[in-house]
Order: sequence, then structure tokens, then C-alpha cells
Amino acid sequence: MEASLLSLVMGGFTSATIGAAARLGVADALADGPATGAELAKAVGADPDALESLMKAVTALGVFARDEEDRYINSPLSEQLRSDHPESIRHLASLLCGLYAQAAAGGLTQAVRTGTSVMPHAFGVSLYEYLDQDAETARIFDLAMQDWARPIGVLAAEHVSFDGVRTVVDVGGGNGALLKAILSAHTQLKGVCVDRADTCRRAEAELRASGDEDLIGRLAYHPSDILEAVPEGGDLYIIKNVLHDWSPESCVRILSNIRRAMSAGGHAGRKPRLLVVDPLVEHDSGAAFRSVIKMVVGETNTRERSEADMRREAAAAGLEVVSIMPAPADLTVTECVVAEGA
Ligand SMILES: C[S@@+](CC[C@H](N)C(=O)[O-])C[C@H]1O[C@@H](n2cnc3c(N)ncnc32)[C@H](O)[C@@H]1O
Repeated sequence: MEASLLSLVMGGFTSATIGAAARLGVADALADGPATGAELAKAVGADPDALESLMKAVTALGVFARDEEDRYINSPLSEQLRSDHPESIRHLASLLCGLYAQAAAGGLTQAVRTGTSVMPHAFGVSLYEYLDQDAETARIFDLAMQDWARPIGVLAAEHVSFDGVRTVVDVGGGNGALLKAILSAHTQLKGVCVDRADTCRRAEAELRASGDEDLIGRLAYHPSDILEAVPEGGDLYIIKNVLHDWSPESCVRILSNIRRAMSAGGHAGRKPRLLVVDPLVEHDSGAAFRSVIKMVVGETNTRERSEADMRREAAAAGLEVVSIMPAPADLTVTECVVAEGA
């Protein structure tokens, strides 16, 4: 019992150790083959003794492995820390061991005492205000969200109906990973990714640098504060893993802005649709722990949301819920249209 509590208490170091290896790019460096600690230190630009200590720790965790000549190699787990793995979580590991861990360590106790969000206690500002001030963490945040969005984008491209859809608008779409997956599979579609100005600027520069003329022609970035406005012109709106950062009042505000944009759009007699992709408690196996994450990164009063909460917020925003379906990765898809008379 005591040992197990100790291992839970030490979990922060486990996460930090994996996160440091992720951030240094160790799995990428080992993609070409085995390396000694000294070779690896040179490849990732680290102190050899310190890197050897880190590698012993991550190898003891089973995240990396050693070959018969005692050189370090990737294991099935560390493969997922490679940048080019289709289900890579390299950047998520970097983010979680950095900003979120610091925020939790610095403010969780106080936030639980007062019932307010952790970020202002730890950093004096909200999560997104913080990211506006720290370009390197913001870059890692965008890439971490891309790790999260990419596999869901592939699933959405396969399972969502795009019949009669010309333009998909992803609200709070980060660097556009979800839209890139959808647009790559459906070459008749255009996409608009709406996000904070800084994220749009970085993502647009990256898209232009990719030289992918087809995607450059079909994917646009639209900087906007979604608490204030969402652009018109979409036939299908998607908002994924965004509402879970916000209080019920802010969720209604964001949904109302989407409803206003939807009311102005559509073509050939078709009503625009909205897919809200978010964890809802009924279909979220990690709901208990996620409520702590919300305290760390969400706005004050951000809580786990249920199907009833989702229906209430949609109705308050002038939306009618058409269906609620569980989806992979502990997510739920709520399909909405503009309510009659809204
Ligand atoms: C948790 S991330 C989810 C990103 C992406 N939808 C995904 O599922 O990976 C939330 C996104 O909302 C964006 N965001 C937060 N506040 C915003 C605001 N006021 N206006 C526009 N975008 C915002 C963030 O920059 C971030 O990209």
C-alpha cells in the first residue's frame, strides 16, 4: 500500500522524465539505429552524464530499451515519441511535463481552497493569455493539440457525411490538423481554421513553407476571438476539444457565435450543421481525472459536462440537438442545427 502510494506521489517525476526525453527528441535520434549514451547526447545536444541518467530512468520505465550491445534503442512505447509516428504524442508529452505540471505544482492547492482556476494563481494570467506571452510554449501547445487532433481527423474524414458540404469551419481548430486530415481525404472541400491570431500566424507560415499548393489553395486560417465572433460561410462547423476549457456561460457565448454564423450560411436549401466534439461524462472513462485538468487549465467554473449540460447550452445558444453519439478517445459528438425561430 505504502509503496503504491509512493509510486503515485513520484508520478510527477515519471511524467517529467518522459517529457524531457520527448522534448530533446531522443526517439527521433534513435530512429536511425542504436546509439550509446555519448552518441545520443551529441545527437540531441545534451550533457553526456545527465543524458545517461535520464536514459537509465526512461529505460527502467520501459519507455526505451537497450540492445545486446547495451546501446539504447526505441521500444514500442518510445516509437510513439517519434515526430513522424502517425499516432505521435511527442509534443503532448513535452507540454504535459512543462507548462501544465508547473501550473499544477504551483497553484492546485490554492485553487482547490478558493474554487478558482489554477493558471491565475500560478502565472497571474489565464492559459491563453499565458500562451500569448510565451511563444515557445505556445508553439509546443499547438503541436501537442495537433498530436491530439490528427487521429480524430482521420476518423472524421472516414465517418462524417460531407454530402452537400463545400466549406468546413473548424472553430478553435489549432494549427489545422483536423482540417488537413479531412481535406486530404475529400479533395472537393475547402476548410477555414479559426483560432487565436498567434496560432493562425504560425500555422499559416508552416502551411506555406510545406509547398503543398493544393492544401494552400483550400485551407485558410481566420484569426478571431471566438468569444466575440465566428466567421460565416461554412456548411459544416466543427468545434473539437474547445468547450471543455470554458465555463457554462462562455460555452453558451461561443455556441451563440457559431449559431449566428450558421444562420447566415448554407446553400442549395441545406441548413449548416455543427458537430461539437468534446468529452461528456457519460462516455468519458477519464472524467474524474479530467476535472482536475480543467481546474489547472480551464476558466474558473469549468466543470465536466454531461449530455444534459450540452443540451442546455445548445438550447440557450439557439441550437437544436439532432443527435448525441459516443466517439473514440473518450469523446462525444453532438450534432446541432439552428433551432426554428432562433
Ligand atoms: C484545447 S485546444 C483544441 C485544439 C483543437 N480543436 C484540437 O482538438 O486539437 C483549444 C483551442 O482553442 C483556441 N482558443 C482558445 N481561446 C480562443 C479564443 N478566445 N479565440 C479563438 N481560439 C481560441 C486555442 O488556441 C486552441 O487552439
